[in-house]
Amino acid sequence: MMRLMVGNQRGGVGKTTTAMTLARCFADRGFRTLLVDADPQGSISSVLKLRPEHYLADFLLRQLHLRDCVLKVSDTMDVLCGGRTTTDAEQQVTSVVARERLFEDMFSNFDEIYDCVLIDVAPSISLMQACAMVYARHFLIPVAMDSLSVSGAGASLFYASTISRACRVPIKPVALLPTIVNKRIGLTEVVMNMIHALGQQNEIPTIGPIRTDTAVGKAHRAHQFLADFDSKSKALEDYDQVASQILEFFQMPATKDGAALMTASEPFVHETQQAAGNP
Ligand SMILES: Nc1ncnc2c1ncn2[C@@H]1O[C@H](COP(=O)(O)OP(=O)(O)O)[C@@H](O)[C@H]1O
Ligand SMILES: [Mg+2]
Repeated sequence: MMRLMVGNQRGGVGKTTTAMTLARCFADRGFRTLLVDADPQGSISSVLKLRPEHYLADFLLRQLHLRDCVLKVSDTMDVLCGGRTTTDAEQQVTSVVARERLFEDMFSNFDEIYDCVLIDVAPSISLMQACAMVYARHFLIPVAMDSLSVSGAGASLFYASTISRACRVPIKPVALLPTIVNKRIGLTEVVMNMIHALGQQNEIPTIGPIRTDTAVGKAHRAHQFLADFDSKSKALEDYDQVASQILEFFQMPATKDGAALMTASEPFVHETQQAAGNP
């Protein structure tokens, strides 16, 4: 079973792209997948042009059944959309006792229904992010190729350890994921070294990277998953490898029925091992 939040305190690093594309990779491998948009900007519904009747806020506060709030986007994938009502919900729950447990209380009832739950969050520190961390207990940090993204990743790690201590739940960073990587740009190597250093300091592996690919923006503009827009795109190929590594981290098979994939994946290399060959 996988519960994974995708977060970085900096915007524009590829969080939404990562959450959407990985969710789709897991769903395509047969895992029953739920993608949750906990960002009040509601990027997922705008990218996919979804018009749900109910949103995350309705599920959290109006006692509606999850099944009535999600949209089925494929046989194995549901999306719980977010939007401005997420902010209202956030304000309403600030006075609730043990409010950080809200997602855990609500989503744990559906643990049997989904193999993978991925949560996209806003870049700003918010109660929704704390709720997502306490529920998922694992998070993946996309980092784009600028130093502010690396600082944002550091801030996310610090926030996770604060929440972990305050709420007394283990919260584990799964990996740093370099995104929008173009090796021909001079800054890339510098930022990659910063990412490796941050990973080493915190004993977190670095996986990926995800290459820069114009298909990503085009897919967004066409309101499609990358897999539907261009099944042969470079970024999708990279995300699919990362999906294998994450499944391995969660000790799940490469596909739901346990069948091997045609493409072999890179093993999940721990940062300390990787650092040996990476001066
Ligand atoms: N691998 C990639 N190659 C090219 N552009 C990308 C890639 N990943 C993300 N982008 C673009 O970067 C921008 C920010 O991505 P997004 O996923 O919305 O980030 P966030 O959710 O962190 O704000 C978007 O315009 C998206 O199309
Ligand atoms: Mg986003």
